[in-house]
Amino acid sequence: MKIQALDLKRQIAPIRQELDAAIKEVIDNTSFVLGQGLVRFEESVVKYSGAKYAAGVSNGTDAIVLALLALGIEPGDGVICPTFTYYATAGAVASIGARPVFADIDADTYNISLESVERILSRKSRLKIKAIIPVHLYGQCADIGGILKLAAKFKLKVIEDTAQAFGAEYKGKKAGTLGDCGTVSFYPGKNLGAFGDAGLILTNNKAVAERLNILRNQGNSDKYYHLVLGRNNRLDTIQAAVLDVKLKYLDGWNKKRQEIAQYYNENLSGLGIKTPFVPDYTNHIYHQYTLRAPVSNKGFVEYLQEKGIDSRVFYPVPLHLQKCFKYLGYKAGDFPESESAAKQIFTLPIYPEMTREEKDYIIEQVRNRSVNG
Ligand SMILES: Cc1ncc(COP(=O)(O)O)c(C=O)c1O
Repeated sequence: MKIQALDLKRQIAPIRQELDAAIKEVIDNTSFVLGQGLVRFEESVVKYSGAKYAAGVSNGTDAIVLALLALGIEPGDGVICPTFTYYATAGAVASIGARPVFADIDADTYNISLESVERILSRKSRLKIKAIIPVHLYGQCADIGGILKLAAKFKLKVIEDTAQAFGAEYKGKKAGTLGDCGTVSFYPGKNLGAFGDAGLILTNNKAVAERLNILRNQGNSDKYYHLVLGRNNRLDTIQAAVLDVKLKYLDGWNKKRQEIAQYYNENLSGLGIKTPFVPDYTNHIYHQYTLRAPVSNKGFVEYLQEKGIDSRVFYPVPLHLQKCFKYLGYKAGDFPESESAAKQIFTLPIYPEMTREEKDYIIEQVRNRSVNG
């Protein structure tokens, strides 16, 4: 059997007509940039998320860049983020000349560790730190309540990197709506994915929302009058139209992911591999379903790949050990929890349309590997 990490064809087939009609409408209107379809999608997101404002942008990386700029982060400012995340979280910070300040993760949730953040904020160099970007990794919320308390104490802006967790909740509130800004990625493989690159920023602050609209659109106040140094980071209307159709299905899809995760959990317990830990304050929408091997993920991933199962490692190298961030001066051993997570965590395929046979085959193979290996 061959099981992909994700099969978008199965997601698209049952809603194909709706998607085709939405795309056709944009073509018929020729409203490709900042069209009515974008406004409609932003209104749908506001309703869905409970945030006051939503700005569609080109992708999840640009969403972080724009949020940093709109919140007044400047070159030389320090921005705390976890070292165990996708490159873009810190890449966005570095791209505007600000300095990523890495924090370790919690050993159970794999999200940013409050103790690690507190340690950073107890140093003298904290004075340069102006913001923090918690990442809601794999689809469950970081301890955003604790982070907001620290942020208030140290006067830090908070950008929730919600690239992997759009639709997840922290104490009943949608991820991305609790900080100063929440940034979302609609990369095709995300739980809510576009037909190309796409992203969005959530905020409850009117002035920030206005700045975001100007920044994403070349700094325009009016056509050919440029208030600030903006960028071309608008969300295409065609992508917005696709996303507006898919948004209606998101909660249903996430529920199915949760059921699959539950099935995996039940059938993979007692094997000495760690299933996901979900704290009470969040639900988990399983953008990724992760297991943690006792020593190394390598044997598991190779074995599962041999058996036709597309298991992956997100992420094999924490950011403080990436070549591109060498200039920041970190070294191996600086963030032990992140370094050991990178060696031990691996994923199993998870997507709403998986069949019972596929799930059972995956479980059988993981059990075989655990017992024999
Ligand atoms: C945690 C995290 N942050 C940021 C991004 C960047 O999003 P995009 O690929 O849409 O630029 C991603 C995307 O994979 C992500 O997983």
